[in-house]
Amino acid sequence: MEHFKYKNNSLYCENVSVAAIAREFGTPCYIYSYHAFVTQLQNIKKAFAPVDPLVCFALKTNDNSAVIKTMVDQGAGCDIVSGGELYKALKVNADPKKIVFASVGKTDTEIRDALKAGILLFNVESLPELSRINEIAGETKTRAGAALRINPDVKAPTHDRITTGTLDKKFGLDLSTAELVLLNRQKYSWLDISGIHMHIGSQITTVEPYVAAMKKVLAFLHKLGGENIPLKYFDLGGGFGIPYDHSPVTPIGDFAKELIPLLKETRLRIIMEPGRYITGNSGILVMETLYIKDNGVKKFIIVDAGMNDLPRPSLYDAYHEIVPVKKTSAPEDVFDVVGPICESGDFFAKKRTMPSMKRGDLLAIKSAGAYCYAMSSNYNVRGRGAEVMVKGNDYHLIRERETIKDLLRGEQMPDFLKS
Ligand code: LLP
Repeated sequence: MEHFKYKNNSLYCENVSVAAIAREFGTPCYIYSYHAFVTQLQNIKKAFAPVDPLVCFALKTNDNSAVIKTMVDQGAGCDIVSGGELYKALKVNADPKKIVFASVGKTDTEIRDALKAGILLFNVESLPELSRINEIAGETKTRAGAALRINPDVKAPTHDRITTGTLDKKFGLDLSTAELVLLNRQKYSWLDISGIHMHIGSQITTVEPYVAAMKKVLAFLHKLGGENIPLKYFDLGGGFGIPYDHSPVTPIGDFAKELIPLLKETRLRIIMEPGRYITGNSGILVMETLYIKDNGVKKFIIVDAGMNDLPRPSLYDAYHEIVPVKKTSAPEDVFDVVGPICESGDFFAKKRTMPSMKRGDLLAIKSAGAYCYAMSSNYNVRGRGAEVMVKGNDYHLIRERETIKDLLRGEQMPDFLKS
């Protein structure tokens, strides 16, 4: 996280003091570094330059329009999974011909909207979905580009809830079904089935699972080659892991070195869908210490952010580094860092050795740019915090803190309860 550094013992994002942003916009508050997003995108493009991939940013990691626009302005395409993401991508002028659409449950409306937009590829995950897209394309007389998301049945060693490339999971088509589809592709007369897509999981820190999956893909393509099936695209998906703690993560250049020869062997135009690699270490969540509690068995630092703001630890037991915004010489102790929500799962760290905090001290949760705000909720009627983007010496509010009015919007009282 080189765009988040201490200067004179105070944490900075690029050239702006984190404490100053927290003072202005309050806490909890997400702070992102513009240059971190751009650098990470460039790193992946550079690493894979020999195959000149179309890099489609996975919006699901961080869908703030300013972040999407940052990626689009840098030439990235978009990997979307819903009509909402399609809408946001188009709103910042993403090129539809650089949009790929995965999701096991695309609705008719989503399919219609994506067809109307003229996206590059529907990444199709089941036979009934393939038929439905074909039907809707026929009804609207629009040809649709499609790729088959194959499930290579390879286990990526990551958290069970974010591994996707094995057949006990809901994702993709098994290889024999995919082959049958391609052999009978004339059945889907409104579809140009021109690609193979895979995504084997997220936060993958070694290259082996990709290599294992690629070998299966290459054998599959080889078999298809004998059948004269014309394909244009191979989409590798996303999944590249980032450092959250101090355990080793394969650098992107090493992933690329191993994968480039295999990608070249496909002889197809390469698409990639990185998300976390671009956004994960480009953001932090800043929160304030409310109370210190010692119940005789454990010590707790109670902060003003909760699992509704950043649910990864409670969902996946995920580790996030937590640092004081102002470095302190206070003695270290062992703490659970917890939020105010009425659940024992509302924690950010357990048994963490860290400096003692006092009321009002600010803390930053690191690696909070991916799947954090994006997965936040209003649980316990808590408004989501603000989001701020820093670029050099400047900072910009990119999403206001939610107010109680925002939370009540849409609620209606039935007449019989009105008094
Ligand atoms: N492409 C597809 C089809 C995906 O399903 C995903 C992530 C990506 C690309 C981007 O993967 P990435 O490069 O970010 O690993 N909420 C979980 C992660 C869920 C991943 C969902 N799919 C977490 O916080 O760890």
